[in-house]
Amino acid sequence: MGMLDGKVAVITGAGRGIGRGEALLFAAEGARVVVNDLGGEWDGTGADPRPAEQVADEVRSAGGEAVANFDDVSEEAGAESLIRLALETWGHLDVVVNNAGILRDRMVFNMSVEEWDAVIKVHLRGHFLVTRAACVHWRELAKAGHAVRGRIVNTSSTSGILGNAGQANYGAAKAGIAAFTQIVALEMKRYGVTANAIAPGARTRMTEKTFGALSLPEGQFDALAPENIAPLVAYLASDQAAHITGQVFGVQGGLIQLYQGWTPIAEITKDARFTPAEIAARSGELFREHPTEYSPLRSPLRQLTGIGGEGDGA
Ligand SMILES: NC(=O)c1ccc[n+]([C@@H]2O[C@H](COP(=O)([O-])OP(=O)(O)OC[C@H]3O[C@@H](n4cnc5c(N)ncnc54)[C@H](O)[C@@H]3O)[C@@H](O)[C@H]2O)c1
Repeated sequence: MGMLDGKVAVITGAGRGIGRGEALLFAAEGARVVVNDLGGEWDGTGADPRPAEQVADEVRSAGGEAVANFDDVSEEAGAESLIRLALETWGHLDVVVNNAGILRDRMVFNMSVEEWDAVIKVHLRGHFLVTRAACVHWRELAKAGHAVRGRIVNTSSTSGILGNAGQANYGAAKAGIAAFTQIVALEMKRYGVTANAIAPGARTRMTEKTFGALSLPEGQFDALAPENIAPLVAYLASDQAAHITGQVFGVQGGLIQLYQGWTPIAEITKDARFTPAEIAARSGELFREHPTEYSPLRSPLRQLTGIGGEGDGA
């Protein structure tokens, strides 16, 4: 008995890295998987059907069921055809894992509009388009009186929820994905759909771009293996996680963290409108022991690799 027996899952960007690990584990847990991957370069250029085909082949040779799909998740037609493929192949859809992503790192003062748009398009718009296509379907089913147990697992990043210099486009998209996840969770609760997000840490071509080659001594648990991310995603996709929604988790190696989002931590009040001078006079009251300058926690990836400094996160 697998935790995902009978489920149909769409996993985007599943031809490599974290998504590949998710596809293989989902299939091992009994899910039938649409393995989507455009197959482009790390920066989003190009396309190649081989990564998705190879992972679908790996699933089938391990005795599982998978179909490969090469659609671009950031295009409306691509996102819709991806969801349609799941429905046409297996007659239903239970899980969407939004994982596809690219990088175009640059300090904000050097970033081109094209670099900004390319990253926002694949991550934020891509998450929206695939999620919308699935939610239209699930809402119609629920309205027709069917029991729906839809699951959405999105992929955020510490680059967005903590912040990382050099990744204004990527971090803004990833923070947007965390907010998008919470809002979709609120909107889809009544239709039996949960939405959660992960902020993973793993050695993939994406982290090689920002951290360089990451390795661990032989014989130890490989805390940076991309396959370490999938178990949490499989759990969130399962019936056992029906009560968990709108949450953001950090996950890396044998570590799973629960994040808390933006929360007010101090306030000043007055029974009328403030003047700027009054705010200046009372700003110390607002900050008290809190720093006035933002400085993020070190992500688990930075802690593990010992890499610090600015502009080198993932
Ligand atoms: N590796 C990490 O430590 C880390 C950290 C934080 C977040 N993430 C996120 O995890 C996800 C997976 O990244 P990864 O590290 O496995 O990198 P990866 O490059 O190995 O995998 C990403 C995959 O997405 C595919 N893809 C890109 N654009 C696509 C598109 N428009 N349509 C369909 N497929 C597309 C790529 O072809 C690639 O195979 C990404 O969203 C990434 O931002 C990774």
